[in-house]
This record gives sequence, C-alpha cells and structure tokens, in this order.
Amino acid sequence: MSASSSNLSSEIAAQIESLRQQLRHHNYRYYVLDDPEVSDAEYDSLYRALQAFEQQYPHAITSDSPTQRVGGAPVSGFAEVAHDPPMQSLDNAFSLEEFTDFVRRVRDGLEMEDASQVLAISAEPKLDGLAVSLRYENGILSRAATRGDGRTGEDVTTNVRTIESIPLRLLGEGWPASLEVRGEVFMRKADFERVNAAQEQRGEKRFANPRNAAAGSLRQLDPRITATRRLSFYAYNLVSGDERALPQTHSARLEQLRSWGLPVSQWLQRIELDSNAASALRYHTEVQEQRSALPFEIDGVVFKVDALRLQQQLGSTTRAPRWAIAWKFPPEEAATTIEAIEVQVGRTGALTPVARLKPVLVGGVTVSNATLHNEDEVRRKDVRVGDTVLVRRAGDVIPEVVQVRTELRPPHTQAWQMPDACPVCGSEVLREANKSVVRCSGGLFCAAQRKEAIRHFASRKAMDVEGLGDKLVEQLVDLEWVKTPAALYQLELSQVARLERMAEKSGQNLLDALERSKDTTLERFLFALGIPEVGEATARQLAMHHGSLENLMAANEESLQAVQDVGPVVAHNIHTFFAQPHNQEVITALRTAGVRWPDLVPQADAGELPLAGNTYVLTGTMEQFTRDEAKAALQALGAKVAGSVSKKTTAVIAGRDAGSKLEKAKALGVAVLSETDLAKLLAR
Ligand code: IVH
Repeated sequence: MSASSSNLSSEIAAQIESLRQQLRHHNYRYYVLDDPEVSDAEYDSLYRALQAFEQQYPHAITSDSPTQRVGGAPVSGFAEVAHDPPMQSLDNAFSLEEFTDFVRRVRDGLEMEDASQVLAISAEPKLDGLAVSLRYENGILSRAATRGDGRTGEDVTTNVRTIESIPLRLLGEGWPASLEVRGEVFMRKADFERVNAAQEQRGEKRFANPRNAAAGSLRQLDPRITATRRLSFYAYNLVSGDERALPQTHSARLEQLRSWGLPVSQWLQRIELDSNAASALRYHTEVQEQRSALPFEIDGVVFKVDALRLQQQLGSTTRAPRWAIAWKFPPEEAATTIEAIEVQVGRTGALTPVARLKPVLVGGVTVSNATLHNEDEVRRKDVRVGDTVLVRRAGDVIPEVVQVRTELRPPHTQAWQMPDACPVCGSEVLREANKSVVRCSGGLFCAAQRKEAIRHFASRKAMDVEGLGDKLVEQLVDLEWVKTPAALYQLELSQVARLERMAEKSGQNLLDALERSKDTTLERFLFALGIPEVGEATARQLAMHHGSLENLMAANEESLQAVQDVGPVVAHNIHTFFAQPHNQEVITALRTAGVRWPDLVPQADAGELPLAGNTYVLTGTMEQFTRDEAKAALQALGAKVAGSVSKKTTAVIAGRDAGSKLEKAKALGVAVLSETDLAKLLAR
C-alpha cells in the first residue's frame, strides 16, 4: 500500500513510505530478532518524523502504518469469530515415562517398527498466556481472535493491533494471499510487575499472575488500556495458506513465519529422536533450568512431530492432536522471607496460622500468603518471623511453607506462639484435648464464624429460608449487612436487589422466604441458634421437655440434664450459650422481628393432656397440614410422634400415597387413621 494521494508529491509519498519501512525493520530487529540496530532515541525520532508527516497529510495515513496501532474508540463488546479448523488443546505429560509413552504411541501410529529409526520432532517452550489466531490478507493483519472454546472466539483485532511485536504488515515476500497464524499472547514478568504496581497505585486489584493479566488486557473494551499493558506474542503454528507454497515441516514453517516478521521463540529446536528419549529429556531439562531466568512464564515444553505428512497420518482426537504433547514442569518452589505470622479464624472457629510473605512468583503466581496449617506444624518446622523459607505451590492448592533455611536465620528471632485470644473478636481460645486444633469461643459474636452461623440458621432443617445460599450469605456478611441472624429480617428490597446475581424479582423472593420462615417451631428455632453440640434431636428433646424458650432459658445446668440425651457437657454448652448477653440480644431481636412458634405444653406436665401416652406415626402426603405442623399439633396435645411403626404405636395417620408404614400397620394390626380423622382428633 503506497502513501500516494492527489495533493501529495511523489517525493513526500516516498519519504513517508521509507520511514514506515525503517520503523517496521527496527521493530523486527527489536521484537523478533531481539537484536536492535538503533537506540530507542533513534527509533523515537523516526517515529516522530512519520507522525509529523501524517499530521500534515492525514489522507496519507494507512491502517498498517506503525503509528496506527492504537486507534478507534472503546467498543461495547466483541463479535464472535468461528475457528476452522477448531483451535485444539494439547495432551499433557508429567514425567519422562509419560513422555516416552507418547513417543511409543506416535511410533506405533506411524508403524515405525524399527525402534532405532529416527523420528524428527520440534521442541519449543510452552508459554503461559492465551491462544490467539491472526489472519493476514495480502500481507496485512486483517483479523485477530481469541481461542474462546476452541470453536468460537472473540474478535479482538483492535486490541491485538496494539501488540508491538505483531506486524501489522508482513515483511519480506512469498507469503500466501491469505494466511492464518496461531500463537500465544502473554505478558512478560517485568510488564506484569509494572502493570500491577500501576493497578495498586490507582487503588485497583492486582492481577494474580501474568496469564490473568494478559487475558484481562486482551479483553479490554478500550484498546488504549490494552496498549499500556504491553503484551507480547510468539507464533507457534501456521494453519492455513496455500499448502504448495509452504514448507512441509513444522520447524521450517515457524522459521518461515519468523522471516515474514512474526516473533517465534528463540528456543525453537528440531530434535532427532532415537530409540530412547535422551535428546528430548536434555532439551526439557535445559529449558527447565532456565525457567526462572526467562523474562516470561512458561509451564513446560511442547513437542510436535515435525513432518506435516506424519502429523496428518496421526490425526487428532476431538480434544487434541496425536502428534503433539505438552511435557509440563513439576510444581515450582521459591525462596522468600516471612514478614509476619497471622492467625485466621475459619468457619468453625478453628485458628489457622498463616505466613505473610514477601511476595514471590511461584509456578506462575505471585504468592504472598502461605498456610502453616496449625500450631504443632509451626513448632515442628520452627517457623519464625524474619526467616527465609521455601514456599511450594502445587497446582491450585494453597501455597505452603515447605522448609526453613535456618542457616539464613537473622539474630534475635523468637519462636512463634498461638495467641490466647481470638484475633478477630478477642474471645478466649480453647484447646481441644489431644488435638492440634485451637478454637475461638466467640460463636455468633465472632465475625469469622458469622457466615457459618448464618448459613446454619437459614438451612433447611433450621429456619428453612429458601434461596438463601452460600454465595448470598457470603456477600451479606462481607458487606456487613448481616452481623447476626436477626439482621436477616431487617434486609430491605433496595439492598438485596443490588447483590450479585440478584434482581428486583429474586430479591423479593428472598424477602418472601424470610417472611415465611418466621413461622416456625421451637425445636427448629433452638436448632437454628447453633448451640455447640445441640443438633436436631437434642433441640427436639429440649423443646418437648421445656415447652417454651422462657422455661429453657431459666433452667440451670443440673435441671438441663433431666432432658433426654443431655449430659453435663451439653448442659454446660446450653447454659453458657444463653448466659451470653450478645446471644440474649440476638434472641430478643429475632422475636421482635416476628419470629414465632407455638409453645408446647412441657412434657413434665403432659400427663394431664388429652393425647398423653399415645404414639402416632405419620405417613404419606396430607392436604391440610405439612408433616411438621401435624407433628407439632399432636405433640402439643401430649402425644408422641415416632418415625417407625411398632406394636406400641397407637395409630398410623396415613395421607395420600402412603407406602410401607401403612403396610406394616396393617400387618401388625395397628389402627390406621385418615387425615380427616387427624383433624377431628386435634379438634378435641
Ligand atoms: S500448540 C494443535 N505450542 O497451550 C496444537 N501451544 O494446552 C495447538 N501453548 O491452547 C497448540 N505454548 O494456548 C502450542 N508452543 C506452543 C504453546 C502452546 C503455549 C498453549 C496454547 C494452547 C495450550 C494447550
């Protein structure tokens, strides 16, 4: 494309074209060959000269001009792009054995019976970024797309144009009229640090690793932001073009791409594989040794059968080609120092020591915290503030401190000790006998334990608040809208509708569910409070025995033990729970909010009740009552409600579709009542 125009002298047009060619050439030297011929200042002055011309002659600007990388306004979304052929994934190997298995499969697939016959493979680092496809029409970058799900990706052309190492126009000659290149967009470690520092300065969140940063930057709606991120690119595949004009091995094709100005890894190497995999192992080891010194993250080595004819012979599975494998590196370890040891309070109140580290890149992720598991573990490893430690991160698990380099320990460090009070709420901590667990005794009062408490309160067998799932509880507690279960009933539509994944309608549904949950039973309410070791069964016994919350709260430890299944430990838990002023406040607030239940006649006095001494079994579906309502009503009249039929059963109350319990009642000659009979019984 020449910069000619009606009122442009051919001399000026030639000058413009010459500047562009020089800039492209220097870009190539810099980004592709990593061997610049001019200083940055010289490059800048050429660039500014071109800019000046283009300002003077705007109609001479072409889209492939080196000045036109960042152009256009932010977009509102990305168009879909179909990939043909699909962008495949790679199979992985994690050991030499798995790699030799791959070689064996390849040799079998190619019917290479002679084990000593040489197989040529190409090797290149596996970059940790994201795959993109670049289309060049007549040598001009015409479209760039993300991999997406492999079949459909997103059109990110304007963003990809900002990546300096990707030529907007191919160099040299001989390229096919239409060409598709695939490769990896990634962020260099230095750029990652720079971008994160900038994020922090603006008060925005740091990116977890260079890959996330690259992906986030490529999917920016504003290409000007993408440009500031300085992404990089390496081509690793040439997928289409005029086949006859292209080299017939993978490595030669990548060399060809490099000669056309596309960046290709300097580590690309063609390897002759003999009967053992020694040459591949050597390459893998060499790259792995260089791993931490490389300016970008890699997570393994990709080996590909070099000859295209053999690739075609081997073919692909739906997921990945049979002619390639990614031989991954083992999880990485890194050394750093401990800046502090803090204590985290988990959902059940368990205290976990956590090491705050000087941030360090481990296996592609910046690690600044590592778990120390528990007090005993810290003692065993003798981890101290100021220590240099080895941190390991395997896959997605929480990083951990593997080892202390005691020879590097500074003077005057102190052995670490678990605090005596909860760091979140200040409550006393309790050590469980013979266990390494230390727990906060703060219960509902402790913010860290609130989420669990709220979750339990709303659960099906407790207050049964439909639709109040873990994610919502998480948000409500994090926003500090809900500090106690009572605060759930203070929520307003204008608030809940603003939560993630909520809208006006779902918000109203939640409020309706909360409203419905207010009508409950004493045993559900007691269970919902989450008193330590008071499960459903104990809650039921407590409710039946005392009949009302007032009676229960007035009971002392001794009288509590008169309740079935309640021993000294549980009696103590119950008494302690109700003695805490903050628990009393929560209970009052819940009742004020409208949480209510029918009081029962205490079992102690049940002898005088009309159904005293009778045992009923409920089965089948009833029309007028829920199972719980029927049960509560029978119990209120002094009856027992059992779960299974025996000879002692007074009667089975059978609703619709009653099954085995009804059969058993008939077999034992136990009376069977209908729902109408039940209604009459209760009306007495
Ligand atoms: S070849 C059909 N070569 O790894 C073969 N992929 O796990 C397609 N990757 O989606 C991939 N470096 O994003 C190939 N030198 C390399 C690579 C590479 C990184 C990524 C790529 C791919 C993923 C598969």
